[in-house]
Amino acid sequence: MLTIKILCGFILTVSEVLSVEIFLNIPNGQIKGRQEVSARNQTFYAFQQIPYGKPPIGKLRFRDPEPVDDWEGVFDATVNDKVCYQITSTSPLQTEDCLYVNVYTPVVNTVIPGNYGLKDQILGLKWVKNNIKYFGGDPDKVTIFGLSAGAASVTYLMMSKQSEGLYRGAIAESGSALTPWSYQRNHKEIAYKLASFIDSNFSPNATSEELLELLQNAPVNEINTLAGEFPEGVGHEELVQGYFFTPVIEPEHENAFLTERMYAVVENGVPNKVPLVIGICSEEQIGKAADLENFKIEMSQYDNDVALLVNDNMHLTDHESKTRAGEAIRKIYTDGLFVDDIGGAVRASTGRVYHTEDKYYLWSINNSSDLNSEDPKDILTSERYITLFTDFAKTLNPTPQPSSLTQNLTWPKVTPDNFQFLNIDTDLEIQTNPKGKAYKDWVEVYETFAVKPYDTF
Ligand SMILES: *[C@@H]1O[C@H](CO)[C@@H](O)[C@H](O)[C@H]1NC(C)=O
Ligand SMILES: *[C@@H]1O[C@H](CO)[C@@H](O)[C@H](O)[C@H]1NC(C)=O
Ligand SMILES: *[C@@H]1O[C@H](CO)[C@@H](O)[C@H](O)[C@H]1NC(C)=O
Ligand SMILES: *[C@@H]1O[C@H](CO)[C@@H](O)[C@H](O)[C@H]1NC(C)=O
Ligand SMILES: *[C@@H]1O[C@H](CO)[C@@H](O)[C@H](O)[C@H]1NC(C)=O
Repeated sequence: MLTIKILCGFILTVSEVLSVEIFLNIPNGQIKGRQEVSARNQTFYAFQQIPYGKPPIGKLRFRDPEPVDDWEGVFDATVNDKVCYQITSTSPLQTEDCLYVNVYTPVVNTVIPGNYGLKDQILGLKWVKNNIKYFGGDPDKVTIFGLSAGAASVTYLMMSKQSEGLYRGAIAESGSALTPWSYQRNHKEIAYKLASFIDSNFSPNATSEELLELLQNAPVNEINTLAGEFPEGVGHEELVQGYFFTPVIEPEHENAFLTERMYAVVENGVPNKVPLVIGICSEEQIGKAADLENFKIEMSQYDNDVALLVNDNMHLTDHESKTRAGEAIRKIYTDGLFVDDIGGAVRASTGRVYHTEDKYYLWSINNSSDLNSEDPKDILTSERYITLFTDFAKTLNPTPQPSSLTQNLTWPKVTPDNFQFLNIDTDLEIQTNPKGKAYKDWVEVYETFAVKPYDTF
């Protein structure tokens, strides 16, 4: 408990005091500590000889200890020169005045902790809370809704105590904080690499303060262009290993957005338990096959080294176990090689909906104001889509009453032992267990090969 309080306290000061001295307020008063370097070259803070009891001398000898009195000014916790009396010691520094503690804490670097996009979203949601009434809105009936990266954002927001009370419902389409692509575990390395793209003299040993200064002084279009220069492709595919600029897990500090692994947050219960509508498209990645030649090349690269299918979240380090896990992953999709029947896979996927294609049912894209030119079945689906989502935003129930538009549907709820979902096709149909076999197989691959603790899944 003491350590945790101290950790929280000094972070406030650390960015202001960049010298080796560190000041901290504890209930008894202020103390001064210092930064040190361990034998393994790790920096840490040392607060030594902090009094916790009155010196047990005079009338206090052989009596119960008493807590120390508060002090005025700064207590100097950078000296450590008292040794308690002990039979085996002959040190001249031995003294009865010996009720002190030494506290050593890691230096938590919170100079650029990250998650600025999500923190921007929280500020935006606070604006909505405070201002939406002037636009006729109800600040107590806010629903957050996102697609793809937006859906990952929505579920990340639900995981952050910082967003508590800012919304009462959530919709996440085709994305989540548990997908491997929406989390980057090598963020520090990527930030330093970006800095070296901006300035080739930038040292990998530079401090976080130097990194921040460089990034703040770089022209934004340069950051934008250079952020696209990271090598992408089989082996370091962002879809498998995480996009380069995504949410991160921050060290514990006052304004942290997220400090715990997402998988653990879900296991322990997300802090913002609001009703959630979550969905996927029927064949999220079939869009890749639009460029069939490249798709074939990519698939044969995976066939040649199935270990590349294994994301870092599985915590497998040797190539052999990665290969075994990779083979099991490929088997979810095909009994042979990926390249054996790409044509068949694509044909089987016709009529399927790929990643974010459903947005056309909600938003007018390319200013298509002439709805009459569209297929009437698409118009109907669009009307259903809009009604289900807006009714959820208004009432927290996508189907507040039977309606012929939504075929008298009663929206099903997921329970741990009954995974119902709505299949949105020409007709609306309640089904169970989306991607049933593939999902079961994926869980099995994880249980067989992956090493905990998981971040994503
Ligand atoms: C210890 O770390 C500092 C800063 O990170 C670095 O400059 C120094 O070279 C390191 N020393 C050793 C012995 O690795
Ligand atoms: C960074 O630090 C390492 C370890 O201390 C050292 O070997 C290396 O030369 C340093 N690199 C630069 C560019 O200063
Ligand atoms: C919108 O316009 C772009 C550019 O003309 C085109 O590539 C895209 O297919 C269009 N999208 C739709 C849904 O019509
Ligand atoms: C969209 O289409 C309407 C009707 O054709 C036209 O008046 C409007 O200017 C268009 N808007 C844009 C942004 O192109
Ligand atoms: C919905 O229910 C109403 C009243 O029971 C019925 O008249 C109507 O035909 C039903 N509509 C559909 C699409 O099932």
